[in-house]
Amino acid sequence: MDHLLSEDQLEVKRAIREFAENEIRPSVAARDESGEFPAAICRKLGELGFMGVNTPVQYGGAGRDAVTYAIVVEELSRVDPSVGVIVSVNNSMICYPLEHFGTAEQRAVWLRPAAEGKLLGAFCLTEPDAGSDAAALTTSATRDGAVWVLSGTKSFITNGDSAQFYLVFARSEKGSQNARGVSAFLVPSDSPGVRKGKREKKMGIRSSDCIELQFEDVRVPAGNLLGQEGEGFKVAMTSLDSGRIGIASQAVGLAQGALEAAVAYAKERVQFGRPISEFQAIQFKLADMEMLAHAARLLIYSAARKKDHQQRYTHEAAIAKLFASDMVMRITQEAVQIHGGAGYTRDYPVERMLRDAKVTEIYEGTSEIQRFIISRNLLTA
Ligand code: CAA
Repeated sequence: MDHLLSEDQLEVKRAIREFAENEIRPSVAARDESGEFPAAICRKLGELGFMGVNTPVQYGGAGRDAVTYAIVVEELSRVDPSVGVIVSVNNSMICYPLEHFGTAEQRAVWLRPAAEGKLLGAFCLTEPDAGSDAAALTTSATRDGAVWVLSGTKSFITNGDSAQFYLVFARSEKGSQNARGVSAFLVPSDSPGVRKGKREKKMGIRSSDCIELQFEDVRVPAGNLLGQEGEGFKVAMTSLDSGRIGIASQAVGLAQGALEAAVAYAKERVQFGRPISEFQAIQFKLADMEMLAHAARLLIYSAARKKDHQQRYTHEAAIAKLFASDMVMRITQEAVQIHGGAGYTRDYPVERMLRDAKVTEIYEGTSEIQRFIISRNLLTA
């Protein structure tokens, strides 16, 4: 697929692959066991400009295109999808909305350090009773003179424990329903009234932290409102379009890692007197895996190109995420199958990869929500 990339994109791909191999691979298995957040790795990624890949240079980012951003998340996730999602959330769900909806002051105070990797952000939309139906959120924001007072609970917050600030979606218009009356707020994580709740014990991507957050009368200055009052749902959906390119890239990177592991094992494992790669049953599995990963990558590049052309890409991002997350489940399952009994143990990375893959069908909109978005676009066009 490199033939589709420019010299600049290939250069970034080589650099991030080298970083992932040298700096991330040695600790992947240990962090999967311990759940330790890769703080030092994130710091280095920030110094290299990977926390704001797609953010313009004038706001502290690397000023690269969306295709390059997808390549970065893919290459990180090929080695460690926990690092992939941390980087994806900061780029897509924090830097991107700050760039698009932020004031000059917000870009200086929040976007620049986030894009430079000096501050990590977390996106707080989901609540105990508002998951797929994000517009059912009940966290409230009440105006009190020059401040907003936030109260409510947010669930499954990726980066929630490690972030220095949160992008929080709350109902700023009392009695409003659904998507209307929601606003977005920038909240420092050490604000009085912010309480960190339970840390989720996840099936996979175990070194990306995910916690519940409670906001108890958290006071933020009126200047921390991101976008117009009442425009918060649009901020959330715009961020998720970008985020879905990131999660699709996470899936394709993970799939690529699993495919490479399966090829290596098939060549080395001998049964019936020859490497199992010489059996057509294994060859056909590998061929299907390669075909699926290839197709997913093309869908991601298509969505990213549309984003780069400043066109609405909601539909393409949903298609890429749906296909890529379905594909990575199939590829990681087949990778375990090719490894046989060995693949079911932690002696081989494909066991972790299968666990890591599942979440791509769930977060940033389940596969069912992607199907809803795609079919609604078709039916209302
Ligand atoms: N871009 C811009 N605006 C958008 C938009 C988009 N992609 N999608 C919707 N909107 C706007 C609409 O135009 C509409 O505005 P108007 O009323 O002014 O026309 C408003 O938002 C409401 O839109 P809908 O009518 O589509 O709202 P809905 O209630 O039907 O919900 C939904 C749509 C697609 C189901 C949405 O709720 C959704 O995406 N749900 C999934 C939630 C999700 O992905 N959560 C992920 C949590 S974050 C996460 O997972 C991060 C992590 O851990 C890594």
